[in-house]
Amino acid sequence: MRANELRSLYLKFFKEKGHAVIPSASIIPENDPTVLFTTAGMHPLVPYLLGAKHPEGKRLTNVQKCIRTGDIEEVGNDTHCTFFEMLGNWSLGDYFKEEAIKWSWEFLTSEKWLGIPKEKLYVTVFEGDEDAPRDMESYEHWRGLGVAEDHIFFLPKEHNWWGPAGLTGPCGPDTEMFIDTGKEKCSKDCSPACSCGKYVEIWNDVFMEYNKTADGKFEPLSQKNVDTGMGLDRTIAVLQGVDSVYDTDLYQGIMDKISELAQFEYRKDQETTRSYRIVADHIRTATFILGDEKAISPSNVDQGYVLRRLIRRAIRFSLKIGIPEGMLAKVAEAVVDQYKDAYPELSKNKATIIEELRLEEERFQRTIKQGLREFDKLINRLKGDDKTISGEKAFRLYDTFGFPIEFTQELAEEKGYQVDIEGFEQSFKKHQEKSKAGASQKFKGGLADNTEETAKLHTATHLLQAALRQVLGDEVTQRGSNITAERLRFDFTFSRKVTREELDKVESLVNEVIEKDYEVICQEMSIEEAKKSGALGFFDSKYGNRVKVYSIGDFSKELCGGPHVSHTGQLGKFKIKKEESSSAGVRRIRAVLSQ
Ligand code: ALA
Repeated sequence: MRANELRSLYLKFFKEKGHAVIPSASIIPENDPTVLFTTAGMHPLVPYLLGAKHPEGKRLTNVQKCIRTGDIEEVGNDTHCTFFEMLGNWSLGDYFKEEAIKWSWEFLTSEKWLGIPKEKLYVTVFEGDEDAPRDMESYEHWRGLGVAEDHIFFLPKEHNWWGPAGLTGPCGPDTEMFIDTGKEKCSKDCSPACSCGKYVEIWNDVFMEYNKTADGKFEPLSQKNVDTGMGLDRTIAVLQGVDSVYDTDLYQGIMDKISELAQFEYRKDQETTRSYRIVADHIRTATFILGDEKAISPSNVDQGYVLRRLIRRAIRFSLKIGIPEGMLAKVAEAVVDQYKDAYPELSKNKATIIEELRLEEERFQRTIKQGLREFDKLINRLKGDDKTISGEKAFRLYDTFGFPIEFTQELAEEKGYQVDIEGFEQSFKKHQEKSKAGASQKFKGGLADNTEETAKLHTATHLLQAALRQVLGDEVTQRGSNITAERLRFDFTFSRKVTREELDKVESLVNEVIEKDYEVICQEMSIEEAKKSGALGFFDSKYGNRVKVYSIGDFSKELCGGPHVSHTGQLGKFKIKKEESSSAGVRRIRAVLSQ
């Protein structure tokens, strides 16, 4: 079976079970500062898991683009990728454990669907703790379907609990499905809890019935939800009988392209294999970030920083396998070719992807040159027979000049010096703690936050976009938005700086609408009706067939998932704090509300 086939079979199966097929949301979370990327299919659905009504109903299914960069160092082994697609089905307060488990089993084992031999499947269930009871219900359902006792394992939260996607929000116990690859047990106690590779997790059914609060409590949600996720890459690897996700048809064209460009063969040795995989993985992820409808460029903050790190890491490993400089755009082209049917935004944004990669490669070459000069200076300053580069200095090369620690180490070795790696790691940790402290400031206002403050800023964002279009013209379209409880941030296309006079006009327009105390009206309609009505929004890929349209007098009409206030009078006073460039052709406004 090919990956394209698995994607469509999954959607077909759940459509037959009464689910509406919705498109993948953007890989950059809308209005959610708690995470940089969409990390799971449930993430864009958080407001609905918390009880908001979804316009497509209570049963949904889709394939979601996801990025997880937490374990970037593990990329290169058989199963880790920073980008992956998650096949998912959801019950928003509709069916619960029984149906979720029954359908998972049917899809995996029925000859009509995947037809995986039952004896190869193992499942795990939550063993219970002080926050939630042992999940005997799921256990009984599995047993009822004929799963043998010794194929079911009870495991603690560390294994069988999912969520929240950020620090707070919906979460719950889960039951996970594994395939026995047939490899030898690594020990007498080898089980699905073990990461030796004998058991590969392919699907996770999460029973989201709790909300984790900021003070770490698990409160029951108003509705019981199901959130499931099947990793496309891993499952297709199992179905195709290959050891690694990099050997599936999803990576075929990409690996072929790398091998055409590289000096060494894929499986020459372990290090070469790993380098091939890192280049393939990182360029695939970078291509999806650059190809997303939200404009992200490499930079030193947030998503832009992750993107920069992925591209630079890919360059470093591409050099190891002898790919000439400036060739990574070719690998990105192979990624676009591989995914263009499932994700048309990649072809649409191909020119941007290639150009951004080229620019970042150039920047990195310059950085390396600068770093080399700094390195020489540093060595010259060492006194007498001191042959050690301190951790702090190595960190400065890394932090200020983007100079990878491995480069510093290699160069030092060549010249007969050594690097204080422990010291480097200490400096690195200190820096991480500092930036974590910064990040925790942002952890309010996410999708899971439907407080009054956030709702007000969502409504203010609609007014801002409408006012910008009145003052600056239709060239203005939204590229991204990010709301915390304290402020809104809005990115939009516009080719020059907005003058203070123009900003003043925008501000007064918004404040006039606030004073008029218009009602904020929400209507559900089909995507065609929404388009016809002139509502603004990303019509390309983000929304399903039925959408919510929020109207404010005849001033603003926009597609949105909410939350919003009921009257503009609740907003108080609107003030623009800052206007600046965000990336080429994109401006960024920060604004606040006060009483
Ligand atoms: N949200 C669940 C996961 O990512 C399904 O595993």
